[in-house]
Amino acid sequence: MSAMNKSSRHMIRLQVNGQESEIEVEARRLLVDVIREDLGLTGTHIGCEHGVCGNCTVILNGEAVNSCLVLAVQADGAEITTIEGLGQQGGLHPLQKAFKKQHALQCGFCTPGMLVNAYDLLKKSPNPGREDIKGAIAGNMCRCGCYDNIVEAIEGAATELSGKKKPSEAP
Ligand code: FES
Ligand code: FES
Repeated sequence: MSAMNKSSRHMIRLQVNGQESEIEVEARRLLVDVIREDLGLTGTHIGCEHGVCGNCTVILNGEAVNSCLVLAVQADGAEITTIEGLGQQGGLHPLQKAFKKQHALQCGFCTPGMLVNAYDLLKKSPNPGREDIKGAIAGNMCRCGCYDNIVEAIEGAATELSGKKKPSEAP
């Protein structure tokens, strides 16, 4: 039986935030490392590298995933959205504005992962309840303990994006 060649390299194609890239990677390379080191998109953070903290969350073919648990070769041909893909040129995404308005961050380390998961939630469920929001970010750890403000911010962005008024603003 031949030994497995752990350093074997593969060409993969990724479409990240709408841009096509072709990259040669080692079979053992993590998607999060390729995103950060090869593509230079350092907004995706690394915390635990074990699928526990949610800092490395990206959207892979329409699903929020921990990119530290995905091998880059598994993502060959995938469409990926990272935190850099949320805001428009010259303007923040409503979720980003809401995080700023609600003081939903202190150190900001967890913020990209929180925002990407919230973005995924609002794409699938434009009018989420509080429990839906808490469920969506249940896999994201915030060491600064900003959870209440984060939930408020996601609720506020959902209200803005769906064009609904808050109960207090209703006629
Ligand atoms: S770095 Fe991926 S879940 Fe913590
Ligand atoms: S704002 Fe510091 S970890 Fe969440």
